[in-house]
Amino acid sequence: MAQKALLDQVAIVTGASSGIGRATALALADQGARVALAARDEARLQEAVQKIQALGGEAFGVPCDVTRQDQVQRLVAETMARWERVDILVANAGAYVRCPIREATVSEFERSLAVNFYGALYSTMAVLPSMLARKSGHLVLVTSLDAKKGMPGDAPYVAAKFALRGLGEVLRQELYGTGVYTTIVFPGRVDTPMIVHLRVPRISAKIPPRKVARAIVRAIHRRSPELVIPLSARALFYLDTLSPRLGDWIVRRLRLTGREDEAESETQKLVGAADKEKAITREAEKLLG
Ligand SMILES: NC(=O)c1ccc[n+]([C@@H]2O[C@H](COP(=O)([O-])OP(=O)(O)OC[C@H]3O[C@@H](n4cnc5c(N)ncnc54)[C@H](OP(=O)(O)O)[C@@H]3O)[C@@H](O)[C@H]2O)c1
Repeated sequence: MAQKALLDQVAIVTGASSGIGRATALALADQGARVALAARDEARLQEAVQKIQALGGEAFGVPCDVTRQDQVQRLVAETMARWERVDILVANAGAYVRCPIREATVSEFERSLAVNFYGALYSTMAVLPSMLARKSGHLVLVTSLDAKKGMPGDAPYVAAKFALRGLGEVLRQELYGTGVYTTIVFPGRVDTPMIVHLRVPRISAKIPPRKVARAIVRAIHRRSPELVIPLSARALFYLDTLSPRLGDWIVRRLRLTGREDEAESETQKLVGAADKEKAITREAEKLLG
């Protein structure tokens, strides 16, 4: 790839305070893009912004909960006010909401869809009109390998990521010829806080987030319709397409669902509960004006 291939391009990355989003923001800045970083945790966001600036890049942080459409619209408005356009959206913010269906309630699905699907939808809808008007832009939707083959135990997450994949596939085709491109990203296991509690078999070993980030930048450069990473994971989907029974058997046989570290998964539940509490407080505040 040519040096500084994205010079002066304007990018928004959601979920940029950690993991894949943070690494992608750094990788985009390294290629010369100006980056607006969005997430809820202001301290971690500022740390990432300062890291980019220290490396000579241009960036700013916008505290934003992507489950709130008004906050996503403000994120895009602030970016446009500063840099006049958005060339690249990386809709990456997400949460791993797992629960066996027999134990799940509708609220687990709602929580997952709110961040993993609606967060990306709000971001896409906020940037798309101006991209279409300029006949130029790139939408990057970060789904998951779970959106190619659903893993047992992950139904709320899988449902949301499949929905996002569906949105991406239609966008890509409807936007054909408009100058606006769509890349759907399907990462396998990535070594980030999201799955720190998950022990996985060697065959689906966790890859570093910077590897995904570099591949995302390449995919933008090549206007790739989709990115499956690691590439070896494609084998499962080919076999699953030929025979879903065989696909299910491979998942069971290779124990691809992984195993929860009990202590850590309790922590995850607490984090989930804290998120729920925050959402209830927000709703109450809205009702009280
Ligand atoms: N790690 C994996 O194995 C893996 C595999 C496949 C796909 N993915 C996908 O990759 C994306 C990034 O995940 P990651 O692995 O990098 O996890 P991570 O390190 O936990 O990062 C998740 C990011 O999303 C942000 N986020 C969560 N809820 C948000 C909300 N309501 N509003 C705004 N930002 C929110 C978090 O920031 P704040 O908490 O500061 O808001 C954080 O920056 C996700 O979409 C995930 O589903 C991950």
